[in-house]
Amino acid sequence: MIRDTLGRELHDLRISVTDRCNFRCSFCMPEGEQYEFFSREELLSFEEIATFVRAVIPLGIKKVRLTGGEPLLRRHLENLVGYLSELPLEDISLTTNGFFLKEKARVLKEAGLRRITVSLHSLKDEVFSRLVGRNVKVSQIIEGIEEALKVGLKPVKVNVCVIRGVNDGEILDIARFFKGMGVVVRFIEFMDVGNLNGWSLERVYSAREMLELLSEHFELEPVEKSYRGEVAQRYRYKDDGLEVGFISSITQPFCGDCNRLRLTADGRLLTCLFAQDGPNIKELIRSHAGEEDIRDFVRRVWAERSDRYSEQRLELIKTGIMPKKVEMFKVGG
Ligand code: GTP
Ligand code: 5AD
Ligand code: SF4
Ligand code: SF4
Repeated sequence: MIRDTLGRELHDLRISVTDRCNFRCSFCMPEGEQYEFFSREELLSFEEIATFVRAVIPLGIKKVRLTGGEPLLRRHLENLVGYLSELPLEDISLTTNGFFLKEKARVLKEAGLRRITVSLHSLKDEVFSRLVGRNVKVSQIIEGIEEALKVGLKPVKVNVCVIRGVNDGEILDIARFFKGMGVVVRFIEFMDVGNLNGWSLERVYSAREMLELLSEHFELEPVEKSYRGEVAQRYRYKDDGLEVGFISSITQPFCGDCNRLRLTADGRLLTCLFAQDGPNIKELIRSHAGEEDIRDFVRRVWAERSDRYSEQRLELIKTGIMPKKVEMFKVGG
């Protein structure tokens, strides 16, 4: 177990396996920008990622989540899941845009993936296509979710990024629709991740407003946090016991309990979703360093950590000087 300068213990690891994505979400990779992606040689191999994870488990890592870009674009991702499933972890999950989920769900489950989170921000083809910058049918993502349920990737969660004036009118419909499917929805406040997403405070629909809206139509009761540092505020529908969550990084920051380390696809260690950059561990892994050397590296990075961006955001906005942040598709959310 290791602690940072604010006493927060390392617990979760999020691994981005690629910075590429087949979508161009307006709030992440808006069309019209030029993007540079990592070359194949720059990416950590699955063996290198597995070496890293094996080395850091003794530091307290219990949960691993695979992210992107779009992680299902990384060829044979199931092989990495297979390596990770042999390690003593409590949880292996994945966040995907769902486009390739129908074809990949079974092989991922068989390789040892426990559960999955799918991003879906609208039930209307036209709104969804506009949001993700591609002509995609909502039904294709729903079919992926159905397949994930069928093969036993449970619970399936759906992340909905709520943007005022874009999809806030669909909150109730989305809640109702996924309640019917037994899928846990998490409504996320629109965040100022990266530098390209046209964020402004006026476009944030707060978690409190979402909760008030849902409470007018459903009987909800709060659920205790299942672990320290859990980002979602969880509630339960009283009638069927299904959960629904709200992630309120803007209006109620949760940096005080933040226990997440992020590994980028090219081997950088980021200690915050809003970090500018972080030290690269790839050379160390490629030099065939022992596990103890990798642990020492991570210990140092974590011991120096003092990030609390979401608690500082409003002050930073007032000063008018915003640090340049890592983009969402590089850090993986
Ligand atoms: P569970 O493991 O199922 O509890 O999920 P999770 O909360 O780790 O899920 P997920 O990765 O889907 O997180 C949902 C979203 O919340 C992310 O995609 C981010 O948008 C946001 N989020 C997650 N972690 C952090 C964090 O450490 N800080 C901030 N500010 N936002 C976060
Ligand atoms: N604000 C909130 N959520 C976001 N996501 C991506 N960008 C943003 C943003 N600016 C969501 C994705 C995915 C997860 C990684 O975060 O849709 O569910
Ligand atoms: Fe791709 Fe996810 Fe970014 Fe959308 S939010 S462009 S799906 S990486
Ligand atoms: Fe953690 Fe940074 Fe998110 Fe705060 S803003 S909860 S420090 S990742």
